[in-house]
Order: sequence, then C-alpha cells, then structure tokens
Amino acid sequence: MSTTLRELLVAERESEACSLSGDISDKEDSTTTSPLFSSEEEQSPENLKKYTAPAAFLLDLKLRENLDKEELTKSSEFITLEPATIVDNSFEESEPSYSSVKEVLKTAEESPFSSDLKCKKLSKISSDLKIELVTLTDLIKEPSATLEKVIAKSVEKCEAEGEATVSEESAVITSREVVGGRTTEKDDQATVSVQINECVSDNAKSTALTLKQCPSVGVKLDVSDLNIFQRLNGGGLLLSPESCTMVDEAWERLSKSYVYFKGKPVGTLAAMDTSADALNYNQVFVRDFVPSGLACLMKEPPEPEIVRNFLLKTLHLQGLEKRVDNFTLGEGVLPASFKVLYDSDQEKETLLVDFGASAIGRVAPVDSGFWWIILLRSYIKRTRDYALLDRPEVQKGMKLILKLCLSDGFDTFPTLLCADGCSMIDRRMGIYGYPIEIQALFYFALRCAKQMLKPERDGKEFIERIEKRIAALSYHIQTYYWLDFTQLNNIYRYKTEEYSHTAVNKFNVIPDSIPDWVFDFMPLRGGYLIGNVSPARMDFRWFLVGNCIAILSSLVTPAQATAIMDLVEERWEDLIGEMPLKITYPALEGHEWRAVTGFDPKNTRWSYHNGGSWPVLLWLLSAACIKVGRPQIAKRAIELAEQRLSKDGWPEYYDGKTGRYVGKQARKYQTWSIAGYLVAKMMVENPSNLLLISLEEDKKIAKSRIVRSNSSSF
Ligand code: GLC
Repeated sequence: MSTTLRELLVAERESEACSLSGDISDKEDSTTTSPLFSSEEEQSPENLKKYTAPAAFLLDLKLRENLDKEELTKSSEFITLEPATIVDNSFEESEPSYSSVKEVLKTAEESPFSSDLKCKKLSKISSDLKIELVTLTDLIKEPSATLEKVIAKSVEKCEAEGEATVSEESAVITSREVVGGRTTEKDDQATVSVQINECVSDNAKSTALTLKQCPSVGVKLDVSDLNIFQRLNGGGLLLSPESCTMVDEAWERLSKSYVYFKGKPVGTLAAMDTSADALNYNQVFVRDFVPSGLACLMKEPPEPEIVRNFLLKTLHLQGLEKRVDNFTLGEGVLPASFKVLYDSDQEKETLLVDFGASAIGRVAPVDSGFWWIILLRSYIKRTRDYALLDRPEVQKGMKLILKLCLSDGFDTFPTLLCADGCSMIDRRMGIYGYPIEIQALFYFALRCAKQMLKPERDGKEFIERIEKRIAALSYHIQTYYWLDFTQLNNIYRYKTEEYSHTAVNKFNVIPDSIPDWVFDFMPLRGGYLIGNVSPARMDFRWFLVGNCIAILSSLVTPAQATAIMDLVEERWEDLIGEMPLKITYPALEGHEWRAVTGFDPKNTRWSYHNGGSWPVLLWLLSAACIKVGRPQIAKRAIELAEQRLSKDGWPEYYDGKTGRYVGKQARKYQTWSIAGYLVAKMMVENPSNLLLISLEEDKKIAKSRIVRSNSSSF
C-alpha cells in the first residue's frame, strides 16, 4: 500500500516533536485550527443579512470574512448573479497533522521519464542554507533517476565541491525559513503592500505620472490617464526604469494585476488592457489564477500569502448557494470568477461572484474545483502550512468538490460527462461529452486529494473511492483515448456492430468518421490522447491542456508521456509554430465550424479556442517537458515566445495557422500570459520547481499495468 502524504506528515511531526521538545507548545499554538466561523453566535442565520437589488436580481449577502483571524468578526459582502443563500459551514474540529516533503521524496518511485534528462548544475546556492536554483545546463548521466534524485545528486556534487552546505530537504523546499514549519504565524503577520500613488516613468522621457489609488486593485487607471498611457506604452501600464528585462517586466506587471480585498491580495485580474472593453476580464478567474499562484510560490523568496488568501476566499465563495434560474447547482461548485467592487459612497467592498450564471453559455466551470485542489497541494508543498490543510473547512471543501464527481449514477464510464464550455475553452467548441482536459484534471485532483485528505470519519471512505476511481480512470484513458500510428491503423480497420463484451470496437466507432487530416498528422514516432471518447464518437483533435496534465499527473504511462513529447517535436510547425502554443489542433473550418460552434464569430478557424495559440500554455508544456526529461523543448518554445510576447503587449492569444498574428479580439496584458511565461522560465531554470506541480506514477496502477502488459502496446 502506498504511503500517503498525510502519513508522512504525521511521521515527521512526531519526530520533530521528539527532537524539538522545547518548541512543542509553540508548535501547537501555531497549528491550532482556525474555524471559518469562530463561534456559534457568528454562524447564526440572523447574523447574515441579505439585500436584494430587484432590477438586476443581485443579492447582496453579508458574510463573515475568514481571511485571517482578526477578520473573523468582520463582515464582507458577496453578490452572485442569481439569488443566493448562505450555506452554514459548520465543520468538525480535528487534529492537525504534518508530513515532510523530504520523506515523500524518499518514497518517490523510480521514473523512466528522466532517461535523457540533460540537466544539471546547481548554479546558485543561497548564503543562508537553501538551494535556490537548479539549472539545466549539464546533464544527468543515470537514465532511470527521478527528478528528485537528480536534484539531490546535484546538491551532493556542490557539497563535494565545497560550494555550499545544504540539507537534502532544501533541494525541494527552498525557503522553509520563510514559509515552512510554523509558517502560518508568519503568513498571518505578513504585511500586504497596497500599491498607492504609483510613480511610473517612461525610460526615454522620464515622464512621471501619478496613478489613483484603488482599494481593490493594484493600480487603477482613470479614463483621463488612459490617453497618456496609450501614447507612452501602447495602452499598458508603464513600468519602472528597473524593469529592463522581460522577466522583470513580467514580475512588475504581475504584481500590478493583484486584486485586494480588505487590504489583502486575493487574486489577479484576468487582463489589464485599458484599450479594450473590460467585459469580465477585470475579474479574478479561478483557472487564470493558477499560473499566477504558481509564480508566487516558485519565486525566491516565495510570496505565498496571495495564494493562501485566494484559496480561502474561493473556498468561502463555495459556501454560497448558487442558482441558475430556478435550478440550484451542487454545493461543491467553485466560481468561474469573482470581482471586487468598491462603493466609494459607503466605503464598502463587495464581491461579485460568477458560478457560470453570467458566463457565456451559462455553464458552470467544472475545472475550477480541480484547479483549486491542485493549487492547494502546490501551496502546501511549498509552504508546509499544514495548519491550513487541516482546517475543517479546507477538508470539507475538498470533499464537496469530490462529491460532485464521485456520486453513483447512470455512468458506465469512469470519465466525467460534461457540457460544452465547462473549462478553459468556455464556448461551444464540440468538447461536450468526456473532454480530455476535464478527465486529466479530474484524475490530477483525485490524486492530490488522496494525499491531502485526513482519513478521519468519512475521509477514509473518500480515499477508498478515490483509489477505485483513479484505477478505473487511468485504465480507461490509457486504453481508449490513446492514439498512435499503430492504434490509428487498428481503428481504421475496425469492424462495426460488434455485440457483447468481446467487442474490440467497444464504442462502435465507424472508421469512415476518422478525419483525413489525422492520417497525415500522425507521425510514425509519437502519439497523444485524443480529445473525447463516447459512443460512436472519437474526437481526434489534439488538446494541449489535457495532454500536459496527463503527463504531470502521471495519468499516462511513462512510455506514452515520451510519445507525446515525440509528437510535439515531430509536429513542431503545427503545434508550436511561430508562437507557442496551439490550444487545439486542427481548426474547425467551413461546415464543420458552422455545425460544431454554431457559427461562433470569435472561434473562426485558427483563432481563439479554434486553433489559436495561447502563450499561457507555455508553463504546462515546460512542466511536461521537464518531467519527461526533454527540457530543451521547453527552452525552444520559451525562446520563441521571448521574441514577441513582450513587444506585442502580452496578448491573450495569437491567430493563424502558425500563430503569427496577435489574436483578433485578444486582450493585451493578459495576466496568465505573463504568469505562464514566468512559471515556464522558473521551471527551466530550476527544475526542482516541477515538484510543486507534478506527481509520480501511482504504484498500484503501474503494477496492474505490468500484469496486463502483454495485451497492450504500452
Ligand atoms: C476566456 C478563456 C477562459 C479564461 C478567460 C479569462 O474566456 O476562454 O479560459 O479563463 O478568458 O482569461
């Protein structure tokens, strides 16, 4: 049986308790669970006021703030676009527990991913004990080593060379002194710098402008300022003279996208393009925040506060009842996005929350909850803030998300049935059914939750259900979604109308439905997970997010992961082109576009979701490349992006077959294009960052695969 992160945490805490006896009381204090609601009185419905704005059907709800202890007595306000009521989140108290990344790494399985991983040298060791940077300039010589071992080896090498003294643990978690151990205290005390009266200048002209202060957003631009800004910097924010490199510029822009609520950063704006209508780009999107959050966690020193606040704030929003018309969505649904509104008359901040009721197509974001769990694990890995993980509301939040997906029903497949528009591709694009992006995120989130759930009470049952589901899901995806030259040839020769469990063509896919382009696209070397599998339907399109997440979560086998990277190399022009990366390939055109998208003018061929190129995806590709031991692919893609991304104003997406043109309706200064670039950079420069967002193969699943390997090509 595999050891869970939690078991390892407990073991470490026990050993720490023995060795640091003088520190015990301190430690206990620091790990005391802070319930969302501090007293029964505060939880009473009488205390939760509702206000209704009839014309707009807005409901203004007074809720308690839970961002930190001091705020437990204060109120915050929420608006959803449909009537909402407060869900009473009364949680049980439970014992906090601990584990150590060091221990986890010790149990890490051998991975064939690093077969040609050419990495290595620790190029910088911080003076006060921690490894700061692992670069990719040298190579590991042992083909079967795990990334963790690569890093540990490099540490040893540096030690031997007398470069620095480092602990094994520091190779993984680099700033325990900042956020580890009893980090919560530190986090709680951290000061939030609200940017006010920012002085910005143009390098050449040394023009200084004063920006108006906004309580909720890093920098607010007044209309009167815009013309000047546009003249000076193409509509974007001006940067300080120190921002001379692209990386510096990206950091500065990222920090300016911070959204503040009650003085604390709680997320990042989707875009800061002052030249286009904001629409909902002035909101904090859950999925968009993931690269921002990762950037803050990977930064040296890390800035985990915003991630922590974001996790708690969105969790709090999960507690709202959400409705579309007369229908109530599941309790576990997390918002697609939220926005901080400031009423200057009343000097009051309010949150406007969207669970899909105002999104295009009125679809709830299935991916939000999964991303939330995945980011939670990254945050815990980086900070070791186990007190937060052990908070009853955090444990309950995870379970509510999983409950939405683990309930019994009519399903005959372990995959999740979804509506079009429920994920990053949030418009009609023919992804309804069982899209690979959601299946891969589902698998990833299940495995992260398995590491983080406490076995107490119903936790054990959840863990058992998770184990069963991940086994079934990985079999289903590895078997039925996988396409390579051999499998394509098999499908091409499929018999149809087979009956009974002996059928080879289980979903009765008609070979004539295989589109012509696949035969040309499929290289002899390489393969990928196709977009969707359901009765009589295989969507052969390539979707980058699903394939990269499948690698990061080890949903695909190591051999499949390698084959995906082979495909990226073999089809570089199609999938990367002049600007990384194609979100999907190929584009839907003509009649197909009309039928599948419903004539969507935003998703015309080779634009936006329909074959457009999205710089944000750089971080996912980079992470997957490093995991498979092919960092040079990531480097090549990053270099391409560096030629234009900043000059073009960090667009949301590019159009055209090779991604040459800035997207027709692309926002500029799109935050996740900026954050995605930073995360990609930081992972390539320090591959140990990958550990924050990657999972080793599940031992049980790998074992069962070996047993049946004679019947499958992987
Ligand atoms: C677009 C994207 C969506 C993203 C949002 C905000 O709607 O399709 O994935 O979350 O913009 O950037």
